[in-house]
Amino acid sequence: MQPAKRLADIDLSLIRQINALATPFSVNLGIGEPNVVPDARLREMARDAATTPWHYSHNAGTLSLRKRLADGTPYDPKTEVCVTAGTQEGLFAVFTAFVNPGDEVLVPDPGFLSYATLAKICGATVVPYELEPPHWAIDVEALEKKVTPKTKLILVNSPSNPLGAVADHATLERIAALGPLVASDEVYRQIWYDAQPASMTGLSDNVLVLNGLSKSHAMTGLRLGWILARESLMKTIVKAHQYIATCASVFSQALAERVFDDRDWNALWLAGVRAQFAEQRNAALYAIEHELEVKVAPPAGAFYAFTPVPACDTISFAKTLATDAAVLVIPGLAFGTRGQGFVRISYAASVEQITSGIERIGRWLRAQ
Ligand SMILES: Cc1ncc(COP(=O)(O)O)c(C=O)c1O
Repeated sequence: MQPAKRLADIDLSLIRQINALATPFSVNLGIGEPNVVPDARLREMARDAATTPWHYSHNAGTLSLRKRLADGTPYDPKTEVCVTAGTQEGLFAVFTAFVNPGDEVLVPDPGFLSYATLAKICGATVVPYELEPPHWAIDVEALEKKVTPKTKLILVNSPSNPLGAVADHATLERIAALGPLVASDEVYRQIWYDAQPASMTGLSDNVLVLNGLSKSHAMTGLRLGWILARESLMKTIVKAHQYIATCASVFSQALAERVFDDRDWNALWLAGVRAQFAEQRNAALYAIEHELEVKVAPPAGAFYAFTPVPACDTISFAKTLATDAAVLVIPGLAFGTRGQGFVRISYAASVEQITSGIERIGRWLRAQ
């Protein structure tokens, strides 16, 4: 059976290809999900959420959850919020709603793989906007030069996967003013180190904000995300979402509501998650400096260290590390051509795993 043309050029993600090389002896620093376990209160909230009805909700999500998501924002919970089956489904809904064949979509390079893939699925042209080490800041003037009459959508991801870089408020304001639709993927916004990253929420009517509980609450498998956008855009998004997911899991929606309602617990939980990642970040940066003899600018958010390595072809480098040194890291090329020469080391792992995984890489490099 011939696959549909829209998927013909789409490969299984490199992240999955590397993870397929894992053995029980591997140290996995390739992973993109928090190594945070639910506490007793979160489990209690989940038990309580499970007692609520299991019927479909409104396509856009229960109004009670939408009210909590719109709280403190300029968006109307009735018409300007859509709860999705994770941020990924939100992205798919946005692309389905607005991107046509022949459109241009501006994506960060290096950047989250899904953006370029979704653009390709829609038949659009992927236009990378390059980010430069060591700080990986968005050069808005360079970005502006890439905007053409065909530009439909600009993707912004702060804090960034795979860079951990954060864009400041002024940069986000300027991007919002460029003209095309902007999808701001803020799924890592709660994972920060020195100061909370700025949001694009409410910056302009052409901005769509995507977020979710996967990273902040280690709920990757519960598939709970959301989109905030003006009503004129949201109508089309909800239409797409209706044919993709019908509605997000009502169990996950009920749990999300409880999470937001228990404000004291939630504030403590988020502070705990940040403290854990800060410790893991320090362990990763220390091991990278001492074992790999390179300095990586401390990521301002998320839980990835995008690390330069002495290899021309980082795909075979990462595959060799997986098989010969039993440590999984993601080749930078998985995130765009600008990722060549780098690997993404995830520090969503215990300090012991981080230290021993990076030691293994160092030992392997020294043996070459
Ligand atoms: C930048 C970015 N956006 C979106 C997602 C998807 O997250 P979710 O689990 O909410 O679908 C991920 C997951 O790794 C991500 O890194």
